[in-house]
Amino acid sequence: MAGNCFLRVSTWLKQIYLSWLILLYSREIHAQSNDVSCIVHNEEFMECRWDHIDEEANSTLFYWYTSRPPMECRNYLQENGYNVGCYFSKDEIIEFENFFIYRNGSSDPGSLIKTFQLQNQVKLYPPANMVLNMTENNELLLSWETPAKLLKCRMYEIRHRNNKNKDWQVQVITAQTKYVLSSVNPKKFYTFQVRSKINQYCANTKLWSEWSPAIQWGKDPVQPGKIHENYYLFAFLLALGLLIIALSLLKFKR
Ligand SMILES: *[C@@H]1O[C@H](CO)[C@@H](O)[C@H](O)[C@H]1NC(C)=O
Ligand SMILES: *[C@@H]1O[C@H](CO)[C@@H](O)[C@H](O)[C@H]1NC(C)=O
Ligand SMILES: *[C@@H]1O[C@H](CO)[C@@H](O)[C@H](O)[C@H]1NC(C)=O
Repeated sequence: MAGNCFLRVSTWLKQIYLSWLILLYSREIHAQSNDVSCIVHNEEFMECRWDHIDEEANSTLFYWYTSRPPMECRNYLQENGYNVGCYFSKDEIIEFENFFIYRNGSSDPGSLIKTFQLQNQVKLYPPANMVLNMTENNELLLSWETPAKLLKCRMYEIRHRNNKNKDWQVQVITAQTKYVLSSVNPKKFYTFQVRSKINQYCANTKLWSEWSPAIQWGKDPVQPGKIHENYYLFAFLLALGLLIIALSLLKFKR
């Protein structure tokens, strides 16, 4: 009787131990392979992506909000015929509410449900239409355009360097859409770039936009490689010209 009871308790403990191991193991796989990352692009559309692993079945993605029932992804992004992501149009994006996703079909059966809020996943487009103006005080005034949407929610990072110092100088600013660089050396060649992010007053995002295209100021220092190329081309054309003249002279003589 006592032996029977002991046996039961021990199998019971063994089962707990095994399920615990399976849980641990599946969580580990999850961390490596089942990660779905979602980015809301400029608050216009969202893409959630994951890696398809060769041995895995085709995944399906389910999502829901606290206030809404689960739905399956309506527009899958595919690679080699397999689902590798989901496209969400603007009307499917709700901010400041818990958003849940569950990817089914990965090799990890205990795959976890991920939760986050979409205002924290916004990645803005880079600032556009940058302009550089030289002021009378020998300052360079960099300005750029920002869409009215989210104007108060943006912060910027400006980086600049010159041909004498290749290390980027980085500055973070909030609210303003301009930056002044003082004591500009007219002999130097300056390069500026700006990127943008939702600031901490509006959300908790860590995603910066891509860098804007570079805007430059000053005399472009002539690249030595270019001189050589031009020189050789010039020498070649000169030789060709001389050859043509020589040939036509020969013909003329006959
Ligand atoms: C994966 O599923 C999608 C639909 O969700 C389907 O269009 C696609 O053909 C499937 N791919 C494979 C390899 O089964
Ligand atoms: C989840 O995936 C499994 C195996 O890939 C499949 O059998 C099952 O039907 C899927 N569940 C849903 C709700 O799509
Ligand atoms: C900067 O220069 C541009 C022309 O290059 C001009 O249109 C613009 O008004 C100037 N901006 C400022 C702030 O001076």
